[in-house]
Amino acid sequence: MNTVTERPALLSERLKNETGELHELMHSLMERAQPFASRANYARFVAAQYHFQRDVEHLFADPSIRDAVPDLQVRGREAAALADLADLADLGASAGEEAIASQGVAMPEALGWLYVSEGSTLGAAFLLKEVKEKLGLSETYGARNLAAYPEGRAIVWRRFVSFLDRPSLPQSEHEAVLAGAAAAYGRFGDLLRRYFALN
Ligand code: HEM
Repeated sequence: MNTVTERPALLSERLKNETGELHELMHSLMERAQPFASRANYARFVAAQYHFQRDVEHLFADPSIRDAVPDLQVRGREAAALADLADLADLGASAGEEAIASQGVAMPEALGWLYVSEGSTLGAAFLLKEVKEKLGLSETYGARNLAAYPEGRAIVWRRFVSFLDRPSLPQSEHEAVLAGAAAAYGRFGDLLRRYFALN
């Protein structure tokens, strides 16, 4: 007789499956925002990206997230987004004032925030292509925030997934990571809505 033992879903699988609708929502917001219709529109996207990245990098100071994700030094695109805003400054682009939204967020929720930011580097490959073709920007001018990390998108992403799925992160903490991911998607959605005056 065969006994089939079902293994519990990995955290990376749960994140992908259970936040899929929130990812879809990002697509529809981007569709409505038309961030690549003009450089001026794109500058609003970069401002939203900058504030989101600032929220994410704010979490890096916590030693417990550094334990969970030991290669944080290669992650995060706050400085890249800020440099892009400087490139686009002649369009009147500026970051604007925004309070840090991740204040008080700690592990395990923090890992969910990082998941959303790191995952977005995958979709960014497509966005970068569009920005290059439509707006004439590049990884070194205006679109640094969408560039791949120097090691390459896939390698850095797979390493992140391996951290998500470490047995040292107990299953009892997975729900909190999912809640953190939902909050991070919520924040990015909120920024897009405000920077593009969507409702
Ligand atoms: C129109 C805009 C977007 C497009 C076209 C897009 C596209 C994609 C694609 C194709 C992937 C899968 C890549 C792969 O499996 O190799 C992906 C993954 C992901 N994207 Fe997006 N994306 C967009 C916007 C966003 C935004 C705004 C966020 C968050 C702020 C985001 C977060 C994620 C995450 C977390 C994943 C990883 C999913 C997983 O495998 O667990 N995406 N995206």
